[in-house]
Amino acid sequence: MTDDTLKKQIRQGIDHRLAVRVYSDRKISKEDVDFILDAAWLSPSSIGLEAWRFIVLEDDSIKEALKEIAWGAQYQLETASHFVLLIAGKDVRYDSDNVYQSLVRRGLTDEADLKARLARYRSFQESDMHLDSPRALFDWAAKQTYIALGNMMMTASLMGIDSCPIEGFDYDKVNQLLSKAGLIDPQKEGIASMLSLGYRLRDPKHPRSRKPREDVVFWK
Ligand SMILES: Cc1cc2nc3c(=O)[nH]c(=O)nc-3n(C[C@H](O)[C@H](O)[C@H](O)COP(=O)(O)O)c2cc1C
Repeated sequence: MTDDTLKKQIRQGIDHRLAVRVYSDRKISKEDVDFILDAAWLSPSSIGLEAWRFIVLEDDSIKEALKEIAWGAQYQLETASHFVLLIAGKDVRYDSDNVYQSLVRRGLTDEADLKARLARYRSFQESDMHLDSPRALFDWAAKQTYIALGNMMMTASLMGIDSCPIEGFDYDKVNQLLSKAGLIDPQKEGIASMLSLGYRLRDPKHPRSRKPREDVVFWK
């Protein structure tokens, strides 16, 4: 059985987390932000792809421009201590350099093993998952970034730091902006989501609302 004190701390972390839209002016230390980013960096990804980058946005002029096109991040862009862009790769087909490099990273160097593994990935992508368009491949890569997103939020919450995940923005316009600013290569990657981090200005007015547990958790 897991230690009760540890479980209590984890539960507190789960309960502390909520989507915070307005932050106080207290800044998160660089050390703590780096700790949170470690949780993203070390997150798992399908076939160990790691087709992602996490950009801590420091440029105020880009934040200002984002406000125009990110309806879901208005106060957060103004008040968050730190603002992270989760970027996903587009070049993630079985025969891409990204996939090849992921195998090499994991120590697969034998030519025959590599070939067999890539054939497996081809059938996984084409027959099992039907990743049959650039959009489907990008969405598959973007899905992986949500694991990093969750890990960052949970890590932050365990540290008493607040956050909010953000999908409320015009994807085409954000990609254009980031590309123009030289933050992404639009041929190779695109925005998946964003994350604001900081310390809440105030506690929420309403208690957390969720479906009844028995409607979503099943033992069969
Ligand atoms: C993938 C995702 C995208 C979200 N996008 C936004 C957003 O753009 N703006 C916002 O204010 N909240 C956003 N939220 C926060 C949700 O509205 C919030 O998590 C949900 O209402 C549950 O509330 P809680 O997080 O406080 O428990 C997003 C949440 C998720 C998981």
